[in-house]
Amino acid sequence: MKKSEFEHWSEEATRWSAEYLETIDQRPVRAQTQPGDIAAQIPASPPEQAEAMDAIMADFKRIIPEGMTHWQHPRFFAYFPSNAAPAAMIAEQLATSMAAQCMLWQTSPSATELEQRMVQWLREAVGLPEGFDGVLQDTASTATLCAILTMRERTLNWQGNQQGLSHHPTLRVYASSRTHSSIDKAMWIAGLGQDNLVKIPTDDDFALNHQALRDAIDADLAAGLKPAGIVICVGGTSMGATDHVRAVCEIAQEYDLFTHVDAAWAGSAMICAEYRTLWDGIELADSVVLNPHKWLGASMECSAHFIKDPASLVRTMAIQPEYLKTYGKDGVVNFSEWSVQLGRRFRALKVWFLLRAYGLEGLRTMIRNHVAWSEKLARQLENESDFTVTTQPILSLFTFRYTPAHTTGADELDALNIRLVTQINDDGRIYLTQSLHDGVVVIRFMCGQFDMQESDVDTAFEVICSVARSITKR
Ligand SMILES: Cc1ncc(COP(=O)(O)O)c(C=O)c1O
Repeated sequence: MKKSEFEHWSEEATRWSAEYLETIDQRPVRAQTQPGDIAAQIPASPPEQAEAMDAIMADFKRIIPEGMTHWQHPRFFAYFPSNAAPAAMIAEQLATSMAAQCMLWQTSPSATELEQRMVQWLREAVGLPEGFDGVLQDTASTATLCAILTMRERTLNWQGNQQGLSHHPTLRVYASSRTHSSIDKAMWIAGLGQDNLVKIPTDDDFALNHQALRDAIDADLAAGLKPAGIVICVGGTSMGATDHVRAVCEIAQEYDLFTHVDAAWAGSAMICAEYRTLWDGIELADSVVLNPHKWLGASMECSAHFIKDPASLVRTMAIQPEYLKTYGKDGVVNFSEWSVQLGRRFRALKVWFLLRAYGLEGLRTMIRNHVAWSEKLARQLENESDFTVTTQPILSLFTFRYTPAHTTGADELDALNIRLVTQINDDGRIYLTQSLHDGVVVIRFMCGQFDMQESDVDTAFEVICSVARSITKR
């Protein structure tokens, strides 16, 4: 493709995108393709000669959208959302046009300084106190890995990176049994090992049990192991499990442990002051992650990682070969020293566009609507005699189970609910996912798509009830 054709094809892509977004609700939400269907349409080897953009674009339209699950669909109620607000998409296009590589201040001063400002905007938006600084990581998984590495280095008096772990005592990290698998993976990658992530049981309110936490730490100390930190869950993936941040941070302080709060999904809702009770005590945490790419519309990938003592993160993550040194510019921030990757995207641009194009009030209205509509659906299902709401809404997430009177065995009900969720997703009008809650299969319902309306939740109610009853019709 010639550079001179860029404007034409960029306009063509914009036209396609606009039409896609206008008509997205006419597509099945979840891809209806079978494994291998898409790969079968792509040649096994790359072309030797250049192909015309006409042909490339035609193949894109013919092959790719069919095999996509449409996360921007207004009836996407699965997982957590992955929103790309139009203003954020435009910012992404601009950032890509500049081939922005934002590893050091000097490789993109605008990106670094805008990122510093956007972290400050987001911190203020979610009500975190001024003591927190931060960085935009790619994902919450990376932020959690960086936090666990910081815990590790802090506990090993900053010797782990240099010496490895074999001559040091075994480090232990604590988290509730309801935390996300990214915590487990961070333990693997940090070299601490799955067995040293101590999963603490939860109480009836799904929060980590404080006495069990103390007992686990005391037992480890008595056994000569070295407690390093605690990962606190705010809005867990299965059903929104949330720990008592203040109480857990106070325990951490008693034992001099580092705390990291995983609020990947729920953190965005903290732009609404009334939901902040969910993370009461957050000012006591050392590190917090939330994903503007989930609920706020910043588009993948964009995780705000706030940290109270950035020097500890930088001491853990910074490496400075000669070719990465910046001379003559004292005090500049090089964000690659705050993370795993060296090369970095220009994530702050989309946050800037997004926050300005919708305003915090616009985003708050969206989140409050999602919470209210989710609550409404939970009440509607609760009023149906053949459904059970298994966990009440936490923000906009709740779980339910189809429990018709004639099906009583737990295994039979599990199988029925798996069948129900599969049939609903094959139907295509809405998209839901299942989870395990206290050993039984439940169906998750989560509202979070940027453009959805109350009528989309009404459709969800109709689809859930009609598909459920059709599969048990005798
Ligand atoms: C509670 C929680 N933590 C962490 C993650 C991982 O987020 P990411 O995909 O940004 O790594 C998720 C993903 O949905 C999540 O729900």
